[in-house]
Amino acid sequence: MSPYSRITGTGSYLPPRRLSNAELAAELATQGVETSDDWIVERTGIRARHFADPGVCSSDLGAQAARNALQAAGLEARDIDLIIVATSTPDMVFPSAACILQSKLGIGGCAAFDVQAVCSGFVYALTIADALIKTGSATKALVIGAEVFSRILDFSDRTTCVLFGDGAGAVVLEASQTPGILASDLHADGKHVGILCVPGTVSGGKVLGDPLLKMDGQAVFKLAVGVLEDAARATLAKAGLQESDIDWLVPHQANIRIMQSTAKKLKMSMDKVIVTVDQHGNTSAASIPLALDVAVRSGKVKKGETLLLEGVGGGFTWGAVLLNL
Ligand code: ACO
Repeated sequence: MSPYSRITGTGSYLPPRRLSNAELAAELATQGVETSDDWIVERTGIRARHFADPGVCSSDLGAQAARNALQAAGLEARDIDLIIVATSTPDMVFPSAACILQSKLGIGGCAAFDVQAVCSGFVYALTIADALIKTGSATKALVIGAEVFSRILDFSDRTTCVLFGDGAGAVVLEASQTPGILASDLHADGKHVGILCVPGTVSGGKVLGDPLLKMDGQAVFKLAVGVLEDAARATLAKAGLQESDIDWLVPHQANIRIMQSTAKKLKMSMDKVIVTVDQHGNTSAASIPLALDVAVRSGKVKKGETLLLEGVGGGFTWGAVLLNL
């Protein structure tokens, strides 16, 4: 049994179809929905997002991100003994996207399951994988965030449809004798279900209720900023570290203004915050591992540095993971 788990490789994948704000605004205008690049950039920081083609599922995006992470870790898919996929847009009601992704990687036998914590899904999944490694149940895990949020957007609702995108990010988490994951902190408060949800479900062969995303943006904004500060402080306290020990904040990429407010509360300069929301939009559970992989591959984030990953989303759920890369 190993005392620690550590990230040994990162990967990501974006579907090729990229829409700038101007391109999305032009498409929406044909349906009588009015928006603009100026409005979207000013209120959210988003400039573009990627949308998957019809028929491309979360497991397709996640499998490609996983292959890239495996390559970075110098491992083969057959070395993996645990797969966790964080997603709110699985391929089907069941089986899990993780099982489908496992077969796409050409392996079988290891544990594979999904985690449903919406935009906090990746920090939940990483915390679970860390715990399973520390108890000896797994030694080499793939932890993946994969989403096709374009499938659950209401393109007649300009207050939500401009915010989200599709994509996937992955890490390989391995048992280690040296500390990688230092501490984590997870929370949920189900009384806020209604401020961000897709209320529909499948029943009796039909979709019951509305299967498209609903959000009270201002309520989400206020709640998000408060809980992200709390989660950051709780995680640092568990590890016995200070804000000044963090080299990089890798927050959920929902909105640049939420990230700026969080950084301000933690007295961190925006130079230390990884930002990809401008290019990806909000990819829900995929946003943190996607941002992490972009930062690692660009050379910005380096091995040995201390990172705070923070997620917040529907549920309401929130949490943070502090780690040495
Ligand atoms: N284009 C143009 N105008 C728009 C658009 C749009 N896409 N969307 C809304 N507007 C208009 C509204 O109709 C309104 O017009 P009115 O004043 O004439 O009524 C005006 O802009 C202001 O609308 P608000 O909803 O008050 O805008 P606000 O400044 O609150 O920004 C936003 C909305 C960006 C959603 C903001 O509330 C926010 O950032 N919320 C955080 C939620 C978030 O990021 N969620 C992501 C998912 S949750 C998660 O991942 C944690």
